[in-house]
Amino acid sequence: MLITFEGIDGCGKSTQARLLADKLSEEGIETILVREPGGTELSEHVRDLLLNKHFKEPLSHEAELLLFAASRAQLMKEVIKPALAREAVVICDRFTDSTVAYQGFGRELPLARVEEINALATDSIEPDLTFLIDIPLETAIRRRKGMGDDRMEAESRLFFAHVQSGYMYLAEKHRDRIHVIDGSDSMEDTQQSIWRLVEYERGNDLRHARHADEDRAEAYAYSFDVTSEVLAS
Ligand code: TYD
Repeated sequence: MLITFEGIDGCGKSTQARLLADKLSEEGIETILVREPGGTELSEHVRDLLLNKHFKEPLSHEAELLLFAASRAQLMKEVIKPALAREAVVICDRFTDSTVAYQGFGRELPLARVEEINALATDSIEPDLTFLIDIPLETAIRRRKGMGDDRMEAESRLFFAHVQSGYMYLAEKHRDRIHVIDGSDSMEDTQQSIWRLVEYERGNDLRHARHADEDRAEAYAYSFDVTSEVLAS
């Protein structure tokens, strides 16, 4: 099972990804936690290029997109695919939705191209479950203050507003897998909401397997409504 965490910088998703990984491991489930960009020797070098290097000429938007994809392609091949093949749970701190939100909406690259490149990098493997940790832009900016921005984080407020609208577009488009979680709640409350949704999803896992050959969208009986239903119960 592939579980991804998404959201704008400063939303608290990395903490939640780690807490979930710890909890699943405590339950005796083989769990692998990776972050993007990164996670393999090559991908960590690419991460360094993307986030820490300052070039005389700014990195082009297209080169940036392809570097994120290169990092992901290597991570898929070396880590994610083998782990999924042995039925481990893979938790990924950022994945393809980040590329749609940041490069598609933030950088305004053509969405169809971004999606094609994502599909090439992942061999069309999609997350089973995605937690989009949603917080107001102002809160994210406040939380990040004094932390030292990397190349992406130094972007303008307008850029992040575009990224955020990209995430809302994705949440609407992929209601079958994306759960929008309110990240303004306490860390414990957010963790609890996530855990309940993971338990619900794992309970449905066998049913997913039976429907593996059918259209994914039809096989999944849940949507946005399920997020609220499970959390309200
Ligand atoms: P990171 O320090 O890991 O940030 P965070 O802790 O917020 O995840 O840096 C990753 C940065 O790269 C983040 O600003 C989002 C950006 N990014 C993209 O623009 N496109 C992508 O496809 C991915 C995976 C990340």
